[in-house]
Amino acid sequence: MSMDFSGEQKRLEGLEFLREHNARYEAVHGTPPMCLVHSFGCQQNVSDGEKLLGALAEAGYEPTDDIDKAQLIIFNTCAVRENAEDKVYGVIGDLKKFKESHKDVIIGVCGCMAQEQKSAERLMNTYGQIDLVFGTFANSELYAMLKELLENRSRVMNIAEKPTDPDEQFVQLRKNKFSAFVPIMYGCNNFCTYCIVPYVRGRERSRSPEKVISEVKALVADGYKEIYLLGQNVNSYSYGFPQLLRQINDIEGDFRIRFMSSHPKDASKELIDAIIDCDKVCKHLHLALQSGCDRVLAAMNRRYTADKFMEIVDYARGRKPDFSFSTDIIVGFPGETYEEFCETKEFVKKVRFDNIYSFVYSPRSGTKAAELPDEISEKQKGLWLRELLLENRDVATEWMKRFVGRTCRVLVDGKGRDHGMLTGKNDENIIVNFAGGEELIGQFADVKITDSMNWAVKGELV
Ligand code: SAM
Ligand code: SF4
Ligand code: F3S
Repeated sequence: MSMDFSGEQKRLEGLEFLREHNARYEAVHGTPPMCLVHSFGCQQNVSDGEKLLGALAEAGYEPTDDIDKAQLIIFNTCAVRENAEDKVYGVIGDLKKFKESHKDVIIGVCGCMAQEQKSAERLMNTYGQIDLVFGTFANSELYAMLKELLENRSRVMNIAEKPTDPDEQFVQLRKNKFSAFVPIMYGCNNFCTYCIVPYVRGRERSRSPEKVISEVKALVADGYKEIYLLGQNVNSYSYGFPQLLRQINDIEGDFRIRFMSSHPKDASKELIDAIIDCDKVCKHLHLALQSGCDRVLAAMNRRYTADKFMEIVDYARGRKPDFSFSTDIIVGFPGETYEEFCETKEFVKKVRFDNIYSFVYSPRSGTKAAELPDEISEKQKGLWLRELLLENRDVATEWMKRFVGRTCRVLVDGKGRDHGMLTGKNDENIIVNFAGGEELIGQFADVKITDSMNWAVKGELV
C-alpha cells in the first residue's frame, strides 16, 4: 500500500527530521553525509535533478560526484525510449554487489521511469538493492519519504497521482556556473501517439512570468551567461512565449537566451519575430519535425503538415537567410512505408537543418502507437536511420560552410579534445573548436571561423 507523503506539514516534519539526522551523522563522522543525484534524459530532467540536489543540500547533505563517498544515491530516470530504460536497469543491476558492502547507503530511483506503475513495480520487486522509488509527481515529497525510510528502515515506493511541482520550494543547485536551466512550464498536453512524456509528466502547468523573470535576473546578477528556458512545448506557455522572450531580453546584462522545445503546430510568426528582434535570443530554433510525410504526421497526432512546417522555415529564412534549425526525427513509426520514409529524407534535405537528432521508433506501453501493427524489423529501421543521415551529409556540410570567414560570438563550454583547444557554441548552437586558454571557459569569445565539417566548425580567436 502506498503511503501519503503530501502536504506542507509532512514536508516540514521531514526537513526537520533530516536536519537532525544529518547533524548527528556529522557529529560522529566529522563530515556531513554526502549525496549523489544522477540524471538521465532531457534538460527538464537535469533541471529536476538540480532541484532535488538543492533540496538535499537544504536538509544537510553535501553533494558529491563520487559514488563511493555517498550515503544517498538517487538515479533520476528517463523513459522516452526502451534503450533509455535499459541503461537504468543496467546501472541498477551493477549496484547489487555495491549494496552488499554498503548496506547503510540509500539507493533511490526517481524520474519518468519511476512514474510508470509497471516500471516502478519492476524496480521495486526485482531489485532488492533499491530502497526508494518515486515518480516525477512526487519530487516535492522527498523529505517525507526519506524520513519514513530512515525512521522505520522500510523501503518506500511513491507514485503520486497528481503532480506537485517543486517549483518555488526547492532552490536549484546548478553544477554549471555559466549556463542555467530555467523551467518555464511543466508537463505536456499533446499526446503524440508514440510518446510517454504526457503520461509521466502530467498536463501543462506554466510558471508565472514574474517568477521566471525574477529567477533570470538573479542568475544574471550571479554571472550566468546563458539562460536556457525549458518546457516540452514552450509555444503553449500560458502567458505568451514571444512576450516572455521580449521581457527577458530587456533584462540588463551580458547574457544570451536559449529555449527548448517548440512544437511546430504552435510555432508562430510572432515567435520567429521575437527571436530575430531580440539581440540576446540565439538565432536558432529546435523544431521537431518527426516525419516529412503528412500521413505519418497525422498518425503521430502531430497536428501539422510538412507544408506548415516549411512555412515557418521560409518565414524565418525570409527575415534571416542563414537562420538555424535543428530537429528530431523518428524512423520506423508503425505502418511507415519505405516511400513515406523517403518523403522525410527529401524534406530534411530541403529544410537544411544544422543538427538532426534521429531515433528509431521505440514502442512505449500505454501509448496509442504501441497498439499499432509494426511490420518493419528493427534492423531495417536501423538501416533507414543510417540512410537518412548519410544522404543528408553533403547538404549539411555545404550548409555549414556559411559560417566560414565570419566572426562568431562563442560561449566557451570547456576544454576541447586536443591539447590547448577549447570548445563552445555560437549563437546558432553550432559547436566551435578553437585554440585558447582555459581562463576563457564560461566566457564569451569572438572566434573567426576558418573551416567547417558537417556538424561543427573550427576557428581562431580574434
Ligand atoms: N516535446 C518535445 C517536442 O515535441 O519537440 C520532444 C520531447 S521528447 C522527450 C524528445 C524526442 O524524443 C521527440 O521529439 C521524439 O523525436 C523522440 N521520441 C519520443 N518518443 C519516442 C519513441 N517512442 N520512440 C522514438 N523516439 C521518441
Ligand atoms: Fe512528447 Fe509530443 Fe509532448 Fe513532445 S509534444 S513531449 S513529443 S507528446
Ligand atoms: Fe525527459 Fe525522458 Fe522524461 S526525455 S521528460 S526524462 S521521459
